[in-house]
Amino acid sequence: MVQFSHMSKFFGEHEALKDINITFNKGETTVILGPSGSGKSTLLRCINLLETPERGTLQIDAIHIDLSKVISKKNRLAIRQSTAMVFQSFNLFPHMKVLENVIEGPITVLKKDKKLIIEKGKLLLSKVGLSHKMDSYPSQLSGGQQQRVAIARALAMEPTFLLFDEPTSALDPELEGEVLKVLKDLSEEGKSMIIVTHNLNFAKEVADRVLFLEDGQILFDGETKMFFDNKENNRIQSFIQSMQFI
Ligand SMILES: Nc1ncnc2c1ncn2[C@@H]1O[C@H](COP(=O)(O)OP(=O)(O)OP(=O)(O)O)[C@@H](O)[C@H]1O
Ligand SMILES: [Mg+2]
Repeated sequence: MVQFSHMSKFFGEHEALKDINITFNKGETTVILGPSGSGKSTLLRCINLLETPERGTLQIDAIHIDLSKVISKKNRLAIRQSTAMVFQSFNLFPHMKVLENVIEGPITVLKKDKKLIIEKGKLLLSKVGLSHKMDSYPSQLSGGQQQRVAIARALAMEPTFLLFDEPTSALDPELEGEVLKVLKDLSEEGKSMIIVTHNLNFAKEVADRVLFLEDGQILFDGETKMFFDNKENNRIQSFIQSMQFI
């Protein structure tokens, strides 16, 4: 479980996230929606402490953190290891082959046995449909293939929560589908995932739960069906309508 209580994040004077209270459960796929600048990326980045909130508390399983105090190195590391982020721009190591990209973290950070992790890395690459590319360099892959390597690399770290910030927004539509398919498979396997996306059809199909942010606040937190069937909240209705023309 990931839980924020009374969490606020400031950039200078600007309060980008305001008194956030939220729990993300294990085994669930949550999709974060909301207009540009509403705080979606910031919320995701606060979960693995790429951004440090100024107020409130963060709990991930047995780790409790008071965000208003200095966070110990040990806690920071523990949080980093229970989460793995997949970025919009893949961020693969360009000088390393695909398989090397996948096994780098487990070997250097987690100190895993090299032989075992090579086998695991190969399995993960077959899971994302890229066994035949393990000896290629990232520059020899399409954007969709690179993003699938990034997903295999995140899985290799065995995080409790997988975090995705617009994982397909840098991709052409025909490459987007192959990445969304991998995410859907992971969701169906019961992986714990938090995904920022602008793709409402994908959200509808895959999310167990939707979080809708506006202006640094949570306007909706509930079942996906209730979000899309909502008749009362004009703001949510107009957001859904505006997204359908993109
Ligand atoms: N490093 C930063 N320094 C200053 N302000 C920032 C920083 N990062 C984000 N912000 C501000 O915080 C607010 C939330 O930004 P955030 O990137 O989380 O939005 P978003 O919902 O992810 O938007 P988008 O859909 O465009 O990616 C915005 O007003 C943004 O300008
Ligand atoms: Mg963003």
